Amino acid sequence: MRKLLLVIILFSFQQLFGQLKPADSIRLENLMKQMTLEEKIGQMNMYTGNIFGDDPVFTADFKYEDLKNGRVGAVLNVNGIKNTKYLQELALQSRLKIPLLFGNDVLHGLHLLFPIPLAEAASWDIGLMEKTARIAAIESSARGNNWFFQPMVDITHDPRWGRVMEGAGEDPYLGSLIAAARVRGYQGNGIGDTTSVMATAKHFAAYGAAIGGRDYNTVDMSNQELWNVYLPPFKAAAEAGASSFMNSFNTLNGVPTTASSYLQRDILKGEWGFRGFVVSDWGSVGDMIAHGYVKDAEGAALAAVTAGCDMDMEDQIYKKYLPKLVAEGKVSMDIIDDAVRRILTKKFELGLFDDPFKFISQERWEKAINNPGHIETARQMGRESIVLLKNEIPEGKTQPVLPLSKNIKTIALIGPHIMSVRENLGFWSPWWPDDSTRIITQYQGIKSKVSANTRLLYAKGCEVSDTSTAGFAEAVRIAKQADVVIMSMGEQFDMSGESRSRSDITFPGVQEALIKAIYATGTPIVMLVNAGRPLVFNWAADHVPAILYTWWLGTTAGGAIADVLFGDYNPSGKLPITFPRSVGQVPIFYNHLSTGKPPKNDSIAYYRTGYIDLMQNPKFAFGHGLSYTTFEYGDFRMSDSTMKTDGSIRVSLSVTNTGKVAGEETVQLYLRDKVGSIARPVKELKDFKKVILKPGEKKRVEFVITPDKLTFYNEQGKQVLEPGEFDVMIGSASDDIRLKGSFLLNDEL
Ligand code: BGC
Repeated sequence: MRKLLLVIILFSFQQLFGQLKPADSIRLENLMKQMTLEEKIGQMNMYTGNIFGDDPVFTADFKYEDLKNGRVGAVLNVNGIKNTKYLQELALQSRLKIPLLFGNDVLHGLHLLFPIPLAEAASWDIGLMEKTARIAAIESSARGNNWFFQPMVDITHDPRWGRVMEGAGEDPYLGSLIAAARVRGYQGNGIGDTTSVMATAKHFAAYGAAIGGRDYNTVDMSNQELWNVYLPPFKAAAEAGASSFMNSFNTLNGVPTTASSYLQRDILKGEWGFRGFVVSDWGSVGDMIAHGYVKDAEGAALAAVTAGCDMDMEDQIYKKYLPKLVAEGKVSMDIIDDAVRRILTKKFELGLFDDPFKFISQERWEKAINNPGHIETARQMGRESIVLLKNEIPEGKTQPVLPLSKNIKTIALIGPHIMSVRENLGFWSPWWPDDSTRIITQYQGIKSKVSANTRLLYAKGCEVSDTSTAGFAEAVRIAKQADVVIMSMGEQFDMSGESRSRSDITFPGVQEALIKAIYATGTPIVMLVNAGRPLVFNWAADHVPAILYTWWLGTTAGGAIADVLFGDYNPSGKLPITFPRSVGQVPIFYNHLSTGKPPKNDSIAYYRTGYIDLMQNPKFAFGHGLSYTTFEYGDFRMSDSTMKTDGSIRVSLSVTNTGKVAGEETVQLYLRDKVGSIARPVKELKDFKKVILKPGEKKRVEFVITPDKLTFYNEQGKQVLEPGEFDVMIGSASDDIRLKGSFLLNDEL
C-alpha cells in the first residue's frame, strides 16, 4: 500500500572540496590557455611503472618519451624515493613542466601494515580507522605517493568474491561511516598538507554484486538496490571530499560503468556535485571491447570520455584516439577541458606546482616508519578487529576456555599459521626486507605473554592447502600433553584479493580433518581463523569451544592476537558481514526484504523461505561478536511514540556489565519501516554506540532518531521520507535484539 504522504528530500551539497585559491585559479586558466590538445590529453593518460620490480622504472621505452613530452598526467606502481624523483624530473623536462601524480594501492598501510580493511571494519571503531588511514598517508606521502586508490567502498553480499577483504562488508550505514573516515584519514587537513594524499572512492559502482562472486563479472540490479545499498558509501566518500573516484570492471545493467553517464555524469558530477576527477580502473576503457559494448578502441575512448571518465589507466587509448575524435568533432573540447581542469585542479590543490618534490623526503620517510606510536595504533586496531565468535565452557570445566591464564603449564600450538610471517599481512601488502624481523608472528606473540614456566609445544600439523596428513601424528601427540591447544587455521593470505574468488569457502586442504583429530584428544581447543573473507567451518564451529576470527591483522598480528588470548584485551569486534552456513546459502545478508511468507517454522513447508536441507538463519549473523564479560540491556525509554517529519525521537537504554571483567559493547540500533511505497528491509542498522564498562558498571546509552535515518531511495533515485510506523530494535547483534519499541512518523498527529 502506498503511503499518503511523500516528502522528497532535496540535497544541497556543501562544496567541501575542489576549491582552488584565487591565485591558483588564475594560474590554472593561464596554463589551460597554453596547452595544446596533445598536452591536454596527456594529462588524461596514466601509466604503470614496473610492477615486477624497481629497475627499470618503466618496462616500455615509449613511456619515458611520453613523459618528457607532456603526454602523461599520472603514474602508478612507481615505488621509492629514487624512482619517484627520477620520473618527476623527467616530467618537468616537458614544455609546460606539469608535475605528475603518483598513485598507488595502499589498501591497509605501506610499511606498517594494519589489519585488512574488512578486519578493521569488524572493530566498528570509526575514529581508529581514520587514524590508521592517517598513518598510512603519513608514511606514503613521504615516499613520493600523493594519491591512494582507496578507500574501496564496495558493498558485497558474497563471501566468495575475493575482493570482499578490501571493503567494509555488507552494510551501507557502517560502510558509509567507514568510507568517510578513511577519506578523512588519507586527506588529513586537506590535500595541500605534505602528509596528506588524495583519496579515491572505488569501484564506482556495484562491483561487489558481481554475479556468483566471480571477479569482474556482470552486475544486474534494480535502481532501488543500487541507491539504497551500493551507492551510500560512495556518496559518503564524495561528501567527505574524496579527490577522485575510480570506476569499475563490471557492467551495470548492461552498460560498463566506465561508459556510464548515469553514474559518472548524472549522479556523481551532477547530483552529488563532485569536483574531483574520475579515473578508469586498470584497462577498463579497453575492456569494453570484450564486454561487447564497443567495437574497437576508438569506440571505447569515445564512450568512456563522453560518460565522464577523465583519466585512462594504462590503456593508452585516450592518448591514441582522443586527438582524432576531437578533430572529427565527436568529442567536444568542453569535455576534454573539463577533464583536464579537474585533474590539474587537484595538482594545484596538492601544491605540486609550487613544489613538485614535496612528497619526496628521505628524512620524513625515516621519521615516519617504525614509529612506536604508530605501531601501538596498529596493535590496538588488530585487537579491536578480532571477533570472538564463540567461547563455551568445556565439558567438566567451570570456566569458558578464554581468556587463557598466562600460567598454564603446557600449551600446544598447532596449525599452518602459528609460525607464519608475511601471511599475517594478508593480500595487497607490499613486502619489505625487514619483514621477517619486525612482523610479530603468532608464536612470538604467545611466547611473549606466558610465564617462564609455561611450556610451548609446536607442531604444524598440515599445510594450508596440501592433502598430506603426515604431520597429524605429531600434532596429536603434543595436543595430548597439553592443557590447552591453540590451533591457527584458515586460508593462505593470497586466497582473497583481486581475482581470487573461491567457489568453496571452507578450510582448504586437510585442515578440518586435523581439527577433528585434535578434538578427539579431549584437550580443549582455542581456534584462530585467519582469512580474508567469511569462511564456512560448521564442524569446527559446532565442536571447538572457543573461536577467535582473526582475519589478517598486519605487522603486529601476533601481538594483538596474544593480547586477546590472554585477556589483556577483552575482545569487542562485531562481524561487519554475515557468515553463511554453506556456500549454497550465499547471498545471505541481514537487511533483506521480507517474503510474503515470513519464517514461522523451518519444518512447515509453505512457510519455509530457506532450504529443506539447511536452517534458514546464518551461522554467524551481522553484528555478532562476544566478549569475556556479559552485558545486560534494560530500562528502555523512548521520548515519544510519535514523530513529525522535521522532528526527532530519543531512544535510550541502560547497559550493565554483568560479568567479572571490564569490557566494551557495541550497542546497535536497527529500524524497520513497516510499510513503504516499496517494500523495506526487515531491519537496517541506523546507529551504534560503543560503551566501555567496568564489572558491575551501568551506563545509559542514547540514540537520537532523526528524519535522515528514516529516508530511503525510490526507484528514481530520489530520497524520500514516508510517514508511517517504524519498529525500533536495539541489540548486541542483528540476531540478538534485546529491546523493542515503535513509533509513528506523522505530521498530522
Ligand atoms: C584494481 C584496482 C586497482 C588498480 C591499480 C586494478 O586491477 O581493480 O582496484 O586500484 O588495479 O592497481
